[in-house]
Amino acid sequence: MSPDRGVTEKTSRDRPAALSKAPPVALVIFGASGDLSARKIFPALARLADRGVLDDGFTVIGVARTDWSDEDFRSHVSNATPGGGPKWRALTERFKYVSGEYDHPDTFGQLKDHLDEADRIDGTAGNRIYYLATIPSVFGLVAGALKEHGCNEAKDEDSFVRVVVEKPYGRDLPSALELDVQMHAAFDERQIFRIDHYMGKETVQNLLALRFANAIFEPVFNRRYVDQIQVTVAESLGVEHRGGFYETAGALRDIVQNHVMQVLALTLMESPTSTDADRIRDEKVKLLHAIDIPSPDEAVDKSVRAQYVTGEIDGVAVVGYRQEEDVAADSQTETYVALRLRVENWRWSGVPIYVRTGKRLPARVTEVAVTFHQVPFLLFDHQTSRDLRPNTLIFRIQPDEGISLEFGAKVPGEKFHIRSVAMDFSYDKAFAGAEAADGYERLIHDAMVGDATLFIRSDEVEQAWRIVDPYLTAWSESGSTLHRYAAGTWGPAMADLLVESTGSHWRNPEIDLELSGGRLTELPQ
Ligand code: NDP
Ligand code: BG6
Repeated sequence: MSPDRGVTEKTSRDRPAALSKAPPVALVIFGASGDLSARKIFPALARLADRGVLDDGFTVIGVARTDWSDEDFRSHVSNATPGGGPKWRALTERFKYVSGEYDHPDTFGQLKDHLDEADRIDGTAGNRIYYLATIPSVFGLVAGALKEHGCNEAKDEDSFVRVVVEKPYGRDLPSALELDVQMHAAFDERQIFRIDHYMGKETVQNLLALRFANAIFEPVFNRRYVDQIQVTVAESLGVEHRGGFYETAGALRDIVQNHVMQVLALTLMESPTSTDADRIRDEKVKLLHAIDIPSPDEAVDKSVRAQYVTGEIDGVAVVGYRQEEDVAADSQTETYVALRLRVENWRWSGVPIYVRTGKRLPARVTEVAVTFHQVPFLLFDHQTSRDLRPNTLIFRIQPDEGISLEFGAKVPGEKFHIRSVAMDFSYDKAFAGAEAADGYERLIHDAMVGDATLFIRSDEVEQAWRIVDPYLTAWSESGSTLHRYAAGTWGPAMADLLVESTGSHWRNPEIDLELSGGRLTELPQ
């Protein structure tokens, strides 16, 4: 870690490396009328176009049931990308839209016609990426229909066909296995790109850089030095207008099974032998296999689930989950989860791993905090050193991407008064032009160039379901408690007990959020 105090002027060395030019391709988006397409996919494509990454032979064919014409679709895309520049606007003029049901042959007949036309007129060269960005329950149906209509195979050996599949991949282990059977009936594993946008975030990838490009951290990254690890994925937003989808998912399926498991795997895995996609994925899978799978009874003891009720976010009153659009008045869906996990291997055995995620928490913050043991003997006066906390290494994934190291320092003055300070590395300050991209831009680019490194292999998905399934089973039992928390608070009191039972407490990331500025900063008292 280099504190960016010394960086006074940005040079080209500090700028993010450009993404390589993508090949020509027709991107077919199933669910083109949805929230993900509008909020993430089209803006990411617009940025790629304006950065010159998209080929002139690039186009989009949107597919969904909403009754739109090509013109309606193009104006929807324009509205979703107000900042799009001339290159993007020129490309959007050729975008096409197919309105139809996924179980109707006309939908795929029209799609094939558009694809042929795109090859002839737009120069897409027979390359296709099908992006399954619709509701997860129809992923298998769409894959089957693509095969039935001969859309799953490349035209010749110079062209490619790939499928990008959104999360959650299945609802539990049996349905994930079933979906894999359906996907593999239509596509080879090499063609399947299971997306988890957290893997596209710079700070998530930086977990690898920090651990394996530096000699000073790895020797202390183990049970001898680490006391505990906390992963927090907090959102201040509620479910917005995604109540229908969220009711079928809940926080465990929506965030823990995928984003949290990926972040944990990168934080805790052994060093891969190379950066090849499969070498990294092999190590992630090994780590996931080491995460303890609880019995249903243990799952109850080691988890807390809860739902938000009316409260305030930034002083503004917000409704409770059950009052949100498309949410049942007696919904049992959890909007908050806290878990206590164990990793059973030589490196991590005995180190508690706490994870929590929730909607309508006080702030949007995602971080991994690795807390080290206290010194074995404190030389200094305990009274004047009461503000000294154990060393903690914090990976801030968002917002204000960066890394902080908290350590003790002497407060200037006569006596030995020790308190915690933080050394803070900020991406934004160290690298000119580094954007807080949400991961989609990078991952869509990687799918276009065929780099699967940051995508999820089927065995990773399966093992992640094995880990979370016992909680789903335990919670489905009648009598299982769904706690409540007021919107704008850090979750239910019961979650504090989960951590306190091992003599610990949750970090307060709001305090940590103030550690910005890329300089040695004192922690607020
Ligand atoms: P939406 O609720 O916006 O739904 C997407 C589209 O699915 C809708 O536009 C709708 O299009 C179609 N749809 C809805 N119901 C059905 C149905 N019964 N049969 C067929 N199609 C249907 O979801 P999102 O866009 O939010 O999510 C899509 C996927 O992306 C999910 O897997 C989600 O987990 C994932 N995702 C979403 C993120 C987000 O921020 N939104 C972030 C990360 C992942 P139409 O009615 O026109 O067919
Ligand atoms: C998605 C979830 O996978 O991640 C959403 O479906 C959640 O519910 C989103 O809001 C969070 O992503 P980010 O990039 O904002 O942390």
